[in-house]
Amino acid sequence: MKDVFIQACRGIKPQYTPVWFMRQAGRYMPQYQKIRQKYDFLTMCKTPEIAAEVTMQPVKVLNVDAAILFSDILIPLEAMGLKIEFIDEKGPVVSPAIRTIDNLKKLKNIELNAVDFVFKAIKILIKELDVPLIGFSASPFTLATYVIEGSSSKDFFHTKKFMFSDSSGFHQLLSSLTESTIVYLNGQIKAGVNAIQIFDTWAGILSPYDYEIFCKPYVKRILESLKQTVPVIYFSSNTSGLAKHINDSGADVVSLDWRIDMKDACHLFEYKPLQGNLDPLALLGQEMEIFKRVEKILNAGKSAKAHIFNLGHGVNINTQVDTLKKVVDFVHAFKSVED
Ligand code: CP3
Repeated sequence: MKDVFIQACRGIKPQYTPVWFMRQAGRYMPQYQKIRQKYDFLTMCKTPEIAAEVTMQPVKVLNVDAAILFSDILIPLEAMGLKIEFIDEKGPVVSPAIRTIDNLKKLKNIELNAVDFVFKAIKILIKELDVPLIGFSASPFTLATYVIEGSSSKDFFHTKKFMFSDSSGFHQLLSSLTESTIVYLNGQIKAGVNAIQIFDTWAGILSPYDYEIFCKPYVKRILESLKQTVPVIYFSSNTSGLAKHINDSGADVVSLDWRIDMKDACHLFEYKPLQGNLDPLALLGQEMEIFKRVEKILNAGKSAKAHIFNLGHGVNINTQVDTLKKVVDFVHAFKSVED
């Protein structure tokens, strides 16, 4: 197996900079669209053969150095007693929304049998892939936002109302999500994933004070429970102001959005392995402008303990497959030219 990605996660500088893309499997790819026309998104996630095939598409087409399991951060919620739907043009819907301590009864500890399709997909993939496979979950806080809002949100009104008006109930919700997430991630590790990424997409809506209270302890608890297993990447967005807290959360790799200069990040994160951090929409621009930005990130990344090239968030649906391919080739060539 190609292990440049795992080496970088462990803080060993590999021969060349590894690269993969968040949301590398998805609607920007004609191969994905072809399958998606026949099945809805949840059916694709729940059918191990399809999930495995879609996971492999970008590995084959783009030549990336890691695969990420085709699934969603909301998938485990069904195995905790909630209903999830993905509605075209609207996005995910979770029901019933849990907004009070009374509603909390509806959230159960995860039933692993109910997500067996995830483990089956992983088992197929580790036989087929020649690059490491990344498993994932949301952070308890980010998952809680969907459980409370019942959908994506702009202002996170219900989340913050619950959090500030009944902090002990909110902590109970977070504890419950944390315990289920640990069980779920251990299931993925047992099935064979080579690394884990924790998506904390919405951590950036919190003040540093509240991040320390409502987010960090639960992320830390997950990270501690996964020590001695596989490397863990912590991704968050809009969190440059939280760098100090993120630095001591215990993640093996910190994944950055594009709002922070990679050079500054190397200082802030004490030369930890870093992942990122091109603005996904920069890929819609002219090639010269794209490579200028990619090169700048790669040069700055040399000061990190190790650097994994990625975007600062998921691939946009309007991205050209060819552009991503060229970025992969550019990243791979960057080091070899130097050496
Ligand atoms: O990265 C990958 O290729 C692996 C698969 C993956 C998906 N979602 C597939 C998906 C991963 C790792 C996720 C994580 C996820 N899901 C996050 C965290 C990362 C981030 O983007 O911030 C979040 C917040 C979600 C929740 C979610 N899922 C939303 C808001 C949406 C709707 C928006 C959209 O892009 O359609 C989804 C649906 C979703 N998850 C799709 C895919 C490929 C689109 C499904 C389709 O209609 O084909």
